[in-house]
Amino acid sequence: MSSKLRIGVVGLGMGAWHAQGYQEDGRAEVVALCDLDKSRLEETACKCGVSEVFTDAEEMFRKVSLDAVSIATPNKFHAPLTIAALRRGLHVLCEKPMAMTVREAERMVAAAEQAKRNLMINFSYRFSDMSYALKQQVEAGVVGEIYFGRTVWHRRRGIPGFGGWFTRKELAGGGPLIDLGVHRLDLALWLMGYPEPVAVSGAAHNVIAKELARKQRKAFTVEDLACGIVKFANGATLMLEASWAVNINEPEHMVTLLCGTKGGLVQKNVGGGYEFTAELYTEEGGNLYTKKLDQALSPAPSAYTEFISSILEKRPPMATGDQGVKVMKILEGIYKSAETGREVRYGAR
Ligand SMILES: NC(=O)c1ccc[n+]([C@@H]2O[C@H](COP(=O)([O-])OP(=O)(O)OC[C@H]3O[C@@H](n4cnc5c(N)ncnc54)[C@H](O)[C@@H]3O)[C@@H](O)[C@H]2O)c1
Repeated sequence: MSSKLRIGVVGLGMGAWHAQGYQEDGRAEVVALCDLDKSRLEETACKCGVSEVFTDAEEMFRKVSLDAVSIATPNKFHAPLTIAALRRGLHVLCEKPMAMTVREAERMVAAAEQAKRNLMINFSYRFSDMSYALKQQVEAGVVGEIYFGRTVWHRRRGIPGFGGWFTRKELAGGGPLIDLGVHRLDLALWLMGYPEPVAVSGAAHNVIAKELARKQRKAFTVEDLACGIVKFANGATLMLEASWAVNINEPEHMVTLLCGTKGGLVQKNVGGGYEFTAELYTEEGGNLYTKKLDQALSPAPSAYTEFISSILEKRPPMATGDQGVKVMKILEGIYKSAETGREVRYGAR
């Protein structure tokens, strides 16, 4: 019997990348796959050399001896499948957004605590050398206390699976805010040390997608742009913006700006694509300095490697369920505020 961790993967779009990430690590073996779509299931099983295949995740948890599982289904199924897996004693790496609501996210964390298993959220934008380099600078005190930030992901036109689950509120929980905004929000919060949100105010729009949906007769029951302002217990403020369709210059515009008492930092994409650059802005003796920060002091693990390491080292993973709950509080708060026109306040824990 192999001593490798035995892993199952549920949902084989993004989940196929999970399977590849585990196989590449070498300390884990993907032994079972699950997808409702049989042709996708067979294709991925063939590619990964996996013989145990299922169309029902709970049957997979019951029938296969597993240590851990990745949940990479549409958002609606994250909470029920994660909770079912934890109750079977499996560690879980769940895709972002962790859930569709705070309530679901809190139930997932409670299930992990009860089962004494790891629950990690795939906040993948942390797991890059550049993000690590920025985190190292923040932890070294180079920017001081971060008191203001702006974190953004806009697309000129880029609605995922238009008319499918991504654009239906009941299956996705929301639109670009919960899909793209979640990544930039996590990156900002992680660099800020995950402060406690105390109040959120937001707005949501559906302008361009609504018109496209009407013309193309596609289901679209979420926003195409949302924005919010978040206030934290430590006095910091963060602005968050996300869209799938907005009239801007670049195909993709991603930027996270964080301003601290001693310095500032920016992480952004270049050329409207998926290459990134980072800079630090500081002042010394009245002189202003800008430093490019494209290399980490130590290389970042992949999310899959971090998940495996956390299980083997019997420690919490780097992207925890509790952090996922804070993210959900902010996202849900923005949606609620957009709906009611009022600020949403939380008691600081
Ligand atoms: N971390 C990232 O960068 C990243 C990137 C893309 C997607 N995602 C997330 O991954 C998840 C999946 O997104 P996707 O782009 O792969 O979507 P997708 O639609 O391409 O794939 C989802 C798959 O899940 C299957 N499925 C649906 N319900 C299921 C169920 N109950 N049991 C088993 N399989 C089921 C579908 O048949 C489909 O093959 C989403 O939560 C999304 O937000 C994360």
